[in-house]
Amino acid sequence: MSEQPAGQFASLWATTSASTGYAALGETIDVDVAVIGGGIAGLTAALALKRAGQTVAVLEAARVGTGVTGNTTGKVTSLHRLAYTELAGRHGTEAARVYGQANEAAIGHVAGIVADEGIDCGFRRVSNYTYAESERTLGLVREEAALAARLGLPASFTTDVPLPFAVKGAVRFDNQAQIHALKYVQGLARAVDGGGSFVFEESPATGFRDGAPAVVDTERGSVRAREVIVATNVPFGDNGTFDERCYLHRSYIVAARSGLPPRDATFLSADEPMRSILTFGLDGTSYILVGGEGHPASERTDSAERYRRLSGFARDRLGAGEIAFRWSTQDAMPADGLPYVGRLSPDFRHVHVITGLRKWGLTNGTAAALVLRDTLCGTGNPWAALFDSTRAVPAPAATPAAAEDVTAPSPEPGVPIRSDLVRGSGSVVDVDGAKTAVYVGPAGNVSAVSAVCTHLGCTVEFNAADVTWDCPCHGSRFSTDGTVIQGPATRNLAPGKAPAEGR
Ligand SMILES: Cc1cc2nc3c(=O)[nH]c(=O)nc-3n(C[C@H](O)[C@H](O)[C@H](O)COP(=O)(O)OP(=O)(O)OC[C@H]3O[C@@H](n4cnc5c(N)ncnc54)[C@H](O)[C@@H]3O)c2cc1C
Ligand code: FES
Repeated sequence: MSEQPAGQFASLWATTSASTGYAALGETIDVDVAVIGGGIAGLTAALALKRAGQTVAVLEAARVGTGVTGNTTGKVTSLHRLAYTELAGRHGTEAARVYGQANEAAIGHVAGIVADEGIDCGFRRVSNYTYAESERTLGLVREEAALAARLGLPASFTTDVPLPFAVKGAVRFDNQAQIHALKYVQGLARAVDGGGSFVFEESPATGFRDGAPAVVDTERGSVRAREVIVATNVPFGDNGTFDERCYLHRSYIVAARSGLPPRDATFLSADEPMRSILTFGLDGTSYILVGGEGHPASERTDSAERYRRLSGFARDRLGAGEIAFRWSTQDAMPADGLPYVGRLSPDFRHVHVITGLRKWGLTNGTAAALVLRDTLCGTGNPWAALFDSTRAVPAPAATPAAAEDVTAPSPEPGVPIRSDLVRGSGSVVDVDGAKTAVYVGPAGNVSAVSAVCTHLGCTVEFNAADVTWDCPCHGSRFSTDGTVIQGPATRNLAPGKAPAEGR
């Protein structure tokens, strides 16, 4: 296994998995259900529907699991920091109970799939803790433990927390789990493909039409289906329905090799800055992962500094050695704290959506997929009403997404660009009047693409720590050659003209 060069956007999970190689869709096919998106939500739905007797086709823009799922931490848990107190306060105790039930069932579903399909993804049963280091959060974790226990969850309050630094106490959930999520979804894809069902990679859906049949188009073929599921993490083709109902939130993860064996425990701090901790054994090597430093994706930030803070925590509090991997990713946060599952909007009859997984998609996404399986099979589902995608939600207090590109720095016309650019860095510059995102690689190779985000036209900015072009408006991310890494943009940045050599 080769380790990651600094500044490369590749997770521990991506680096330790063989790549999949499903063919692209190249014709028009007919199935019962078309699923757009090969992450945990789409693939769990696809397999559940196949097991229920439906034929399915999964269309993945890149390779399965290479979206948020392949960049996650890997906790499979129903303890979502202090979510039960939050949800009971917002939606009532019954809503919190249903949320817990759905997420507990999701853990059981993942465990069952791993066993049934023989997926080698390091599935391990662990206890999960939300720990308190201050008197204030000690009260909060006590409350969360008491409420969760009343809701029937495997919760208790404890002062016996297996961390190498002192904490005041924690809420502990037993019989939780952790997985190598990329290997898990690759296993799901293996189980989906075949027997009249398909997985297609490098097949971005370019659009879809509701109807009987509903049709999903790609550049080289179409899928005709009775039902369509949009499981692209950030939905598209929704006429802006989710623009204000979700916003993207980014977090960062560092991973270091550890001399200690993996623990049967995962952790999240109740205090700020939030820190997420997990240990994982891979091919005889033990890794310690620390995540955190979350912020709305639309917020300008110094990513390198955020990685430094996480590395400092890993070193000072957990005794971690040199950081071997670092990466960041972002997830759709729902305005009212609950995932969205159901019709894409009331205007659609046969197009369904899963989104708003609130950074807990390994369980929320699994539960959401089971809701859609039951809905499409007409069997009814006890969690469907709570997660209903067409429910009324309050407008977010502050929409982190900026509607206009008012803050992006202007390129400087006429500056002798190319000689100013440092190897391994990127800048937005004016090339013949066009805002151009120019990246100079470590070997001096220049790539130039339009700096105009293909979502709504804001100007992308260079993220030096992850080597990506990031859009400050709604959080789309692009690689240096302009390929979409994450939406809401669905189209790559247009090719650009490289600036002339400096004068
Ligand atoms: C830093 C971080 C850590 C996290 N840690 C945890 C954790 O420990 N436990 C947990 O439960 N959750 C965690 N989460 C959340 C979890 O990872 C996500 O909620 C989940 O992976 C989202 O799955 P998804 O299927 O919705 O999205 P994705 O995995 O992003 O899948 C969507 C797929 O759709 C594809 N796609 C997009 N557009 C198109 C198109 N037009 N045509 C075809 N395909 C398309 C993409 O390429 C992508 O592969 C974390 C999130 C973050 C940000
Ligand atoms: S304009 Fe919306 S993400 Fe770029």
